[in-house]
Amino acid sequence: MESIAIGADHGGYPLKEDVKAYLVEKGYSVMDVGTTSEESVDYPDFAAEVARAVQQKKVELGILICGTGIGMAMTANKFKGIRAAVVHDAYTAAMSRRHNNANIITFGGRVVGAGVAFSIVDAWLGNRFEGGRHTRRLDKIGAFEKKGY
Ligand code: RB5
Repeated sequence: MESIAIGADHGGYPLKEDVKAYLVEKGYSVMDVGTTSEESVDYPDFAAEVARAVQQKKVELGILICGTGIGMAMTANKFKGIRAAVVHDAYTAAMSRRHNNANIITFGGRVVGAGVAFSIVDAWLGNRFEGGRHTRRLDKIGAFEKKGY
């Protein structure tokens, strides 16, 4: 079972607590980087924590939740080796793993409820990268990253 870092801002905090409990219940090892309340905070701080934990291989995967998931993904994707995907449902979550090998998923606490969030997590963790032509495409993303565009 993968180890997972999870982080949220105030917009994602309540859902983070639900998702964390769901993952722990399923037996995953979860590293919670905060936030710890609905008091206003800045999402890049938490995205950076989770991205670094994945980058440094302290954990294998990361989950980030803000109001929409967008700011979290924008921030996490600034970190080398991070492939963060904003997902909205089980389908996009499954495809983010199968085709994009997303090592972080992000979603919105103001967009999805706990039931959809659980189905997102199940779909993402229950699928695997398919490799093949998708590896070539990810290598192209990696080449852009290396060139520093
Ligand atoms: C905070 O109000 C909100 O902007 C943040 O949670 C997130 O949705 C940004 O992408």
